[in-house]
Amino acid sequence: MTGTLGDAAATLSSAVPDPADAPWWTRAVVYQIYPRSFADGDGDGFGDLAGIRSRLDHLADLGVDVIWLSPIYPSPQHDNGYDIADYQDIDPRFGTLEEFDELLAATHERGMKLIMDLVVNHTSDEHAWFTDSRSSRTADKRDWYIWRDPRPGFTGGTPGAEPTNWRSFFSGSAWQWDEATGQYYLRLFAPQQPDLNWDNPDVRQAVYAMMRWWLDRGVDGFRMDVINLISKGEYVDVEPVTSGMPLGAEQYANGPRVHEYLQEMHREVFAGRDAELMTVGETPGTPLEHAQLYTDPTRAEVDMIFQFEHVGLDHGKGGKWDPATLDLRHLKANLARWQDGLYGRGWNSLYLNNHDQPRLVSRFGDDGQAAVEQGDVDGGNRTRYASATAWAAVLHLQLGTPFIYQGEEFGMTNVPFAGIEDFFDVEAVNHYAEAVQQQGADPRDVLAALRLMTRDNARTPVQWDDSVHGGFSAGSDRPDATPWMPVNPNYATINAAADRASSRSIFRFYQRLIELRHTDDVVAFGRFDLLEPDHEQLFAFTRTLGERVLLVTANLSGQACALPATCRRDGATLVLTNLSEDERGETDPAVLRPWEVRVTAVTVAATASVTAGAPDAGAGA
Ligand code: NOJ
Repeated sequence: MTGTLGDAAATLSSAVPDPADAPWWTRAVVYQIYPRSFADGDGDGFGDLAGIRSRLDHLADLGVDVIWLSPIYPSPQHDNGYDIADYQDIDPRFGTLEEFDELLAATHERGMKLIMDLVVNHTSDEHAWFTDSRSSRTADKRDWYIWRDPRPGFTGGTPGAEPTNWRSFFSGSAWQWDEATGQYYLRLFAPQQPDLNWDNPDVRQAVYAMMRWWLDRGVDGFRMDVINLISKGEYVDVEPVTSGMPLGAEQYANGPRVHEYLQEMHREVFAGRDAELMTVGETPGTPLEHAQLYTDPTRAEVDMIFQFEHVGLDHGKGGKWDPATLDLRHLKANLARWQDGLYGRGWNSLYLNNHDQPRLVSRFGDDGQAAVEQGDVDGGNRTRYASATAWAAVLHLQLGTPFIYQGEEFGMTNVPFAGIEDFFDVEAVNHYAEAVQQQGADPRDVLAALRLMTRDNARTPVQWDDSVHGGFSAGSDRPDATPWMPVNPNYATINAAADRASSRSIFRFYQRLIELRHTDDVVAFGRFDLLEPDHEQLFAFTRTLGERVLLVTANLSGQACALPATCRRDGATLVLTNLSEDERGETDPAVLRPWEVRVTAVTVAATASVTAGAPDAGAGA
């Protein structure tokens, strides 16, 4: 089958998950590690496997079920490891295969699973497959990548000669001129990341064999990088559009054979062993209709996907580098649409942070840094704690599998980058060069946007304690090693050790959220109903499973907020709050404090139904 939407829509399943018979990952919480910035075990300033191993107890204490490792394979690191030169080895900067096996065993011993990053839309240009492919037009693996002649009438390598007008995610054309063989190759990301040709069955079989090799080694699944881009459509020019996606995405995002390829991958790699595994596809530019297909269990593609609509809601008309203020109503409507759309049909992933996104508490919360700068350290910390936990609760108490990104669990913030020399990421550096040098933009405007949106915000070393460089190299014999990227200067006050020792601990709040997902079926499986969709401060919803109704009310603003009657239940039991013991004594049932989240539960008669906007549902139970 071709997997086009029309063909497949009729085959969608509609089974609401049965708690007694649900896959393990429906109750799981995943923690993402970005290895180069997580922990440095050998004191060379670069995170590594030994460092990860030394911090496993932090993750076990947190209570997470799965660790997702961003790429650790040999790589020239043009895109921090998302440019892989050898899929079946470990980059010496991170360690060895033996150390990997030890890490895997140590993870399993602590009752956690480990999934690998699978980056197979493209390889590094230093991968042996590409070295062969570019060696001549008749090379064995020429067709493993996507080679095209210059545009008719143009001389290759000159402006306008690119085969199509598609843009790279990292600025400039998506086509790279190869002088030696006189053709262009497609690279949707950096020039050093040539796209594989998935229409060639040999490519697909080589990828499947590699995946089986990792599963045989004991890994528990994969996070699949931009997996919805693997099937390209027509190589034609597209109409200029203004959106967060590069020009041309309509020709390759969720392309014609992508569902077919994922079903084939499932048959070839996962069939017969999938009960213990989990898969999550990263799928930029994917509408709900395709998500239903990707995650419908009866279609056997992937368990869940990362959708991108909600993290694009603070992008302006010019996309990511044109930041706009988030309208909470839009975010609620969007997330509710995904909650409803995948309910009983597929499965949601839940995330607001990862290595490609600015820090949540700075982006949508209040990271308190303005207060700290004015000398109010305690006030700043209080606001940071409250807003980080309020956002965590609204995310984690939705239906789906939550993902936590390193440092999120104790409220790491964005970074006060000064000038362009402070940025490391290929995306940021290229954007600055294109905007300022080629398009004449005011550098101050470009820097202002970069500070808010750059992926570098997420990539500074994890702040473990208040020792030199935030304890990033603690445990090595060179604990003062200079990290590859400077630690956020706020590490002396914002760090894991300080948070865990604090009476307002973000870490402990996350522990509780994770525990709730493990122990309360309504959190894992309850139906989601949004309340007060038009409210500008309040994110409120119910989760319903049988007789149990959870009511989540969060004030996502720095001003107090009256609780509408629809968001109150008489006789409800308090399940979770981010108020301190003292503050709790003074709670007003009708008002939420700034950034307060209040989660309550009621039991309703089995026949009663609780729907959005039904104020009396469950009252008096
Ligand atoms: C998505 C990854 O998350 C991102 O970090 C990377 O740059 C691109 N894919 C290319 O692999």
